[in-house]
Amino acid sequence: MLPEKVTVFEVGPRDGLQNEKEKVPAAVKIELIGKLADAGLRWVEAASFVSPKWVPQMADAAEVMAGIGRRRGVRFPVLTPNMRGYEAARAAGATVVAVFAAASEGFSRANINCSVDESLERFVPVLEAAKRDGVAVRGYVSCVLGCPMDGAVPPEDVARVAKALHDMGCYEISLGDTIGVGTPLAARKMIETVAREVPMGRLAVHFHDTYGQALANILAALECGVSVVDASVGGLGGCPYAPGATGNVATEEVVYMLDGCGVETGIDLKRLVGASWFIFDHLGRRPVSRVANALGRGGAQAS
Ligand code: HMG
Ligand code: MG
Repeated sequence: MLPEKVTVFEVGPRDGLQNEKEKVPAAVKIELIGKLADAGLRWVEAASFVSPKWVPQMADAAEVMAGIGRRRGVRFPVLTPNMRGYEAARAAGATVVAVFAAASEGFSRANINCSVDESLERFVPVLEAAKRDGVAVRGYVSCVLGCPMDGAVPPEDVARVAKALHDMGCYEISLGDTIGVGTPLAARKMIETVAREVPMGRLAVHFHDTYGQALANILAALECGVSVVDASVGGLGGCPYAPGATGNVATEEVVYMLDGCGVETGIDLKRLVGASWFIFDHLGRRPVSRVANALGRGGAQAS
């Protein structure tokens, strides 16, 4: 059984563009985000308030937030690893933020330079301030099906971190297969283990497509009862710590599959494909998305 409706949570402007070698100008990011909202996406992760030394691509986060402005019915969450990031995000007008932890120690150290437990401690004041300010906080768990440093990741470790984030006050926990190594039965087992600690209705999934398993894993997650799916326009992205890791599953692929299954998303595939070609034309290459390539620029059938 699939849910009647699925929320697609777009992460391309953040998770995708943070991995690009060439810096993408703020004006291009702002135009991309506008096109994604025009396509019907209601959650578009727009930027990260992280150290510019660690992630130079996100150094223009405040400029991007100012350029997007507000749009009725559309949320623009941003990543905030600590209080410094939270305060900058608030000053830039963010109303939804996200904290990000890992299920494995190796990735936690490589990504945010501290242990898993230290990261959770660091998030406590962010959650407290957000509660005071009426700001919603999403929680990410990375490496839920494997880690580039530590290898296999037990589902119990994922459940522990997800529960800690949920207990702290995160409204939703996104479970990330950051390097895209998962397969459907492993995904199902991991989700079922986490759902013993965090209600299924609070879980989102975040699959990368490195081994071509993302759509199969998403279908397995939907059959478990998950109804929020992260995706990246055109398949933008990668993981700097996992050579060969591709981006998140392409948003077009998710929408095409859900349209075909009669699941409502509220997203216009043709417009979405237009947004995909817009950003890949800027980057000087074709979208990774097979749907974008099949439909061609503007969503017309490719000849
Ligand atoms: P650190 O070096 O351990 O901490 O970094 P620090 O507190 O010593 O700070 C170092 C420098 O950064 C200092 O500047 C701070 O002021 C500055 P300096 O004195 O050297 O000039 N700094 C900041 N600047 C701007 N904004 C801030 C901020 N905080 C400190 N918020 C830190 C720790 C967490 C900051 C660093 O490791 C960092 O920024 N990491 C970001 C990593 C990141 O963004 N990764 C990508 C996102 S996660 C992801 O993609 C996975 C996900 O998509 C799920 C999936 O795909 O599966 C979520
Ligand atoms: Mg990702």
